Amino acid sequence: MARIKILVTGGAGFIGGNFVQYMVNKYPQYDIYNLDLLTYAGDLTKHRDIENNDNYHFVKVDIANREQIITLFEKVKFDYVAHFAAESHVDRSITDPEIFVRTNVLGTQVLLDAARKVGVKKFVHVSTDEVYGELDFDPTTFFTEETPLQPNSPYSASKASSDLLVRAYHETYGLPINITRCSNNYGPFHFPEKLIPLTISRILNDEKVPVYGDGKNIRDWLHVLDHCAAIDLVLHEGISGEVYNVGGHNERTNLEVVKTIINTLGKSEDLIEFVTDRLGHDKRYAIDPTKLEKLGWKPTFTFETGIAQTISWYLDNKWWWEQIISGEYQQYFKKQYSIIAD
Ligand SMILES: NC(=O)c1ccc[n+]([C@@H]2O[C@H](COP(=O)([O-])OP(=O)(O)OC[C@H]3O[C@@H](n4cnc5c(N)ncnc54)[C@H](O)[C@@H]3O)[C@@H](O)[C@H]2O)c1
Repeated sequence: MARIKILVTGGAGFIGGNFVQYMVNKYPQYDIYNLDLLTYAGDLTKHRDIENNDNYHFVKVDIANREQIITLFEKVKFDYVAHFAAESHVDRSITDPEIFVRTNVLGTQVLLDAARKVGVKKFVHVSTDEVYGELDFDPTTFFTEETPLQPNSPYSASKASSDLLVRAYHETYGLPINITRCSNNYGPFHFPEKLIPLTISRILNDEKVPVYGDGKNIRDWLHVLDHCAAIDLVLHEGISGEVYNVGGHNERTNLEVVKTIINTLGKSEDLIEFVTDRLGHDKRYAIDPTKLEKLGWKPTFTFETGIAQTISWYLDNKWWWEQIISGEYQQYFKKQYSIIAD
């Protein structure tokens, strides 16, 4: 019997990278193809434990390169696509929106055309709760799959645009698709420009930690491995055409998150430095995951167990993040947080 071929785009990034490792280890009977352009956010060193496995393959391509993408799909004839590749950082989208439209919108459309051409069995588009905009601080309100799309940043607007294209390819051409909208992820191999790894890496070096505004913005945190399990389930069992929200009811203010890390590492809260708030900073995100739970998904980490696992992972894996905090990233940090960068 022919082996099942799964294309994972963005598999050198944070969530796609965790998903690639999860799938390579869980399904030796599948061939997992990691497709990535290796932008500043992509790195292959994270795959040193699986890179020699027979069922792991890597291909360096830009998802917006129509010719190369179509050629690849025609050659390999993927059965499934899990589409993670994106420009993903809100702050970068505020300073340079154009690349977000090119990669997230045009790149997704190119992949949809290729998927249609070879007749994939399922195209799972990995999106974000940020497409719904923001909630107020009323703790009884949540994003459901029916919440209108009201993106507030160029990043979330580009993701919402790609969601609409994915939906349209299902409605117009009958392409089998699912869209998943997940809350904020954290865990191993998270690029150190995002709140949790930034905080852990700076606290470990006794450096000041920037917190936007008053730190009261609320995010709903999910451990990346629980997100991977959700995508695996949706890929195999999701009803074609449906959207699934992914979240574990772990709402915390940014300040609570930073203080939890500081206290776990036994450092002083004096390391916190409040900096000028991000433009259009969404107040609160919170997910209602009932629909996905009915499909059979349940998170395995609470915020407390997940953050403890993540902190000890960063302590044990300095080899990975210390090489990342250098070069281009240093320049970016200085520009973004000029108040505390020396
Ligand atoms: N990080 C979160 O908390 C979160 C939450 C919900 C949804 N998401 C979504 O999950 C997906 C993955 O997020 P992440 O945090 O792992 O992102 P990431 O920035 O860590 O990784 C993105 C990957 O995509 C690759 N890439 C970028 N442009 C490309 C192109 N043109 N062609 C091929 N590859 C390209 C990068 O090299 C990188 O490896 C994104 O679609 C994001 O919108 C993220």
